[in-house]
Amino acid sequence: MTRDIAPRTWIPALDLAAQHRPLREPILSALGELLDRGHFVLGEAVERFEKEAANYLGVREAIGVASGTDALHLALIAAGVGPGDEVITPAFSFFAIAEAVERTGASTVFVDVDDETLNVSPEAVAAALTDRTKAIVPVHLYGLPAPAEAIRDALAGRAIPIIEDAAQAFGASIGGRKTGSLGDLAAFSFYPTKNLAACGDGGLVTTNREDCAREVRCLRDHGQTGKYRHERFGWNSRLDAMQAAILSIKLPLLDGWNQRRRAIARAYRERLGSLSLRLPVEPSGFVSAWHQFAVRTPGRNRLQEFLAERRIASSVHYPAALHEQPVYRGRFGSFPTAEKAAREVLCLPIGPELSDSDVERVAEAVIDWSSLPTGGPESRGS
Ligand SMILES: Cc1ncc(COP(=O)(O)O)c(C=O)c1O
Repeated sequence: MTRDIAPRTWIPALDLAAQHRPLREPILSALGELLDRGHFVLGEAVERFEKEAANYLGVREAIGVASGTDALHLALIAAGVGPGDEVITPAFSFFAIAEAVERTGASTVFVDVDDETLNVSPEAVAAALTDRTKAIVPVHLYGLPAPAEAIRDALAGRAIPIIEDAAQAFGASIGGRKTGSLGDLAAFSFYPTKNLAACGDGGLVTTNREDCAREVRCLRDHGQTGKYRHERFGWNSRLDAMQAAILSIKLPLLDGWNQRRRAIARAYRERLGSLSLRLPVEPSGFVSAWHQFAVRTPGRNRLQEFLAERRIASSVHYPAALHEQPVYRGRFGSFPTAEKAAREVLCLPIGPELSDSDVERVAEAVIDWSSLPTGGPESRGS
């Protein structure tokens, strides 16, 4: 089938300009206040956002840091991870967790993901436990919470901390409990593409454990427990006040944005459900933040090209499993589900700014692609 695509504008993977257009005034006014007060690092704006985030997530403590990667790193250290320890984490995710673990001096132990959810498989976690296991880091991939309870059960009573990588899942939940409150500690990212995003870098550690919160607060600010009193060798990893002020403006809007993502996911599922593409799942009781809508097909590359011809952006998160990264130089064996996912995933646009007609245009394009003799999921040629 051919069609005239020339007059059509691109449907972007994400439209940050559209997100910020209605927020321009409140954001500029909040930034203006900070300029007048001259408070730029930590301070009132950060404390306020930390309280709001803790209330929203249902945790005692939320500590603003410089990025999601730092949030993971500091959470690992607060959980006691150090040289000689092992940290179990899924082989299919963003690279930040691997960096965070290696920087503690511990070893990363990758395990395979579940074929249905692409989240870490509790059975694989159980099989990877050793005497050196010091933490488990499940990742709530694409916004779908990893099964925290099943992972806890897999630990068979051992008191190993679970640290959620919740970077992609602000606002998701299981049985009414928000991600960020499901484990012992959690790390969020406010990178600009995230569901709750800063206008720059930012991150958050959450926990109900006061000892861990104290440790993260101390480490993020040069190991200080008071002005110029350094109890530890820490970092400079503080959330800045301007980002916190922006996050405070956006947090009350997040549920509405996530609901719009959910409505788009529902529309895709209805329109694409009869194709032989694999669609993302949301197990009963789980509420995804729908950070991505990742379809899977062996014809992934062709589908991406076809969508681009129709002026529809799509993205591959991620083109390789973590253990396949060159930095590991063959250190690990094979994790077949993770490897297959890396060859087959394609994320369709799902930003809350998409109009219904944008969503319909994406769905129509995928349907047209699947009916092509040279395209479609049966093709193994990509
Ligand atoms: C799953 C996951 N973990 C960690 C991170 C790291 O966050 P940041 O980019 O804020 O350091 C990201 C963000 O890209 C992510 O998607």
